[in-house]
Amino acid sequence: MKVLIHATPELAIARAADQIVARLDALPGTVLGLATGGTMEAVYARLIEHHRRGEVSFAQSRSFNLDEYVGLPPDHPRSYWRYMRGHLFDHVDFAEGATHLPRGDAADPEAEAAAYEKAIAAAGDIGLQLLGLGANGHIGFNEPTSSLSSLTRIKTLTRSTREANARYFDNPDDVPRLAITMGIGTIMRADEVVLLAYGDSKAEAAAAMIEGPLSAACPASALQMHRKATIVLDQAAASRLKLRDYYEEVHPGGRDDLV
Ligand code: PGA
Repeated sequence: MKVLIHATPELAIARAADQIVARLDALPGTVLGLATGGTMEAVYARLIEHHRRGEVSFAQSRSFNLDEYVGLPPDHPRSYWRYMRGHLFDHVDFAEGATHLPRGDAADPEAEAAAYEKAIAAAGDIGLQLLGLGANGHIGFNEPTSSLSSLTRIKTLTRSTREANARYFDNPDDVPRLAITMGIGTIMRADEVVLLAYGDSKAEAAAAMIEGPLSAACPASALQMHRKATIVLDQAAASRLKLRDYYEEVHPGGRDDLV
């Protein structure tokens, strides 16, 4: 794992966005794995700025999002499809039909999950996967105790995840109980992964992910087995790392050479 600790959330956000820009510059046909959540809003805002300045194009790339709530149709205001259109897709130049999310309103969600997994494999798997980190250590909606080799499937959300996401819904009871999510095995097949986490609320999960045992109790710890995983943190999210001095010595200020 490459652990990059930045002085501020803004610098961490910029670093994560830069990795996407660099990847699309080197390999414009990259299959992107995209994420939702509060953390990613600023990343997408930065990508839109880069796009407006002519610094990045998505025209040759394709994307697959990590997850979608079961039961929400694409046009539901809280669906991740709507989130992605509002925060990214409507503002950049993906080709028609190049962006994918699971259908939350599929009549048979299990069949939808299996078809989504197949579509990712048929696209040659994810080139660059963008990830957030749940306060409980989840990646995608792979909640604690998810199989570390799981594929896209239905997961039941934990109470803590539903509470964390209740802020987006009028009523906490409206947060769906189930989601279709890429599996940890799906994510692990990505060529490279960049995980962004900032703020105190992520410090415990970040420490478990980077320095804890490889364990389904912290699904993000599976990234310890990934050959090219970059973890981008701010000071607050890095505050519980025991080897923090070491990471800061290797990459002062979170700097590295973007390849
Ligand atoms: P957040 O969610 O960005 O809204 O904190 C991250 C996650 O749950 O993966």
